[in-house]
Amino acid sequence: MARESERECLCFDLNTGAKIPSVGLGTWKAPPGVVGQAVIEAVKAGYRHIDCARVYDNEKEIGEALKELFSTGVADRNEMFITSKLWCSDHAAEDVSKALTRSLQDLQLDFVDLYLIHWPVRTKSGSRGFAPEDMAPLCLPETWTAMEGLYASGQARAIGVSNFSTKKLQDLLKYAKVPPAVNQVECHPVWHQPALHNLCKSTGVHLSAYSPLGSPGSWVKGEILKEPVLVEIAKELNKSPAQVALRWGIQMGHSVLPKSVNASRIRENFDLFSWSIPPELFAKFSGIHQQRLLQGTFAVHETCSPYKSLNELWDGEI
Ligand code: A2P
Repeated sequence: MARESERECLCFDLNTGAKIPSVGLGTWKAPPGVVGQAVIEAVKAGYRHIDCARVYDNEKEIGEALKELFSTGVADRNEMFITSKLWCSDHAAEDVSKALTRSLQDLQLDFVDLYLIHWPVRTKSGSRGFAPEDMAPLCLPETWTAMEGLYASGQARAIGVSNFSTKKLQDLLKYAKVPPAVNQVECHPVWHQPALHNLCKSTGVHLSAYSPLGSPGSWVKGEILKEPVLVEIAKELNKSPAQVALRWGIQMGHSVLPKSVNASRIRENFDLFSWSIPPELFAKFSGIHQQRLLQGTFAVHETCSPYKSLNELWDGEI
């Protein structure tokens, strides 16, 4: 993929026949009062993909920003790709449609382009946290059937999952009538996810990468923009480490979802299409020491979670 043209890198194909833009604006941790302007800056800079979730608590402000962008003609709804996600407390079949309706109301949309099960973790209806008393037994086949109903209704133009290990995705593919279009997971030069990448490739599930910059500042271990291989390649290509990390994701065939609320970094993170990482430099990424940054410890409980350990949550991919 390293020498693909600019045009080829702008979108990837989904198994629904739709296209997903290769760069989306991440909105996790984009605070209220700032996220709307970030969405406006991003769309003005050329982004056509916004990654949202009910649990980020900012869909209302994003909805206002989208309304302004559509009403002023900066972008058309049909050229935008908007994702939202089903939170863990809404996995019960009767809650799935209500949850999407709430997101659609806040986003001021008739449909989302993609709706994802946010985590393979279930909490009790109405709960917000992951205290032992909030945990509930998994019912993923029922949840997926309800997701398929949203796809059939057209309210979700594609459905998928997030934070599914290779094994969990394999299991879902066995019982799904509508196969997931996307698995959105942590993926960046320090966490390549090779097994999941290969499964996604062979089954036509698109891999979308969250925390593609390693969420600098968020994690104790997360300093991937200082990773020497990345810094060296960035210097050689006269790009920033962030741009190289994002371009690596695109050349792997993943869409990337960098979060920023800073106008110049938003633009920097979209300047990925008039250049590429040549094969001899691309090969160097295989030498980077690998580690998962987002562990998901919140989902692990000795007694009341289906996952007694991180090993069980990620099926060994830690
Ligand atoms: P900010 O929003 O102030 O730009 P990730 O998408 O991997 O979760 O990373 C998001 C974090 O990375 C945010 O803290 C964001 O801060 C920061 N960030 C976004 N773009 C860049 C960039 N080009 N260079 C350095 N840091 C960035």
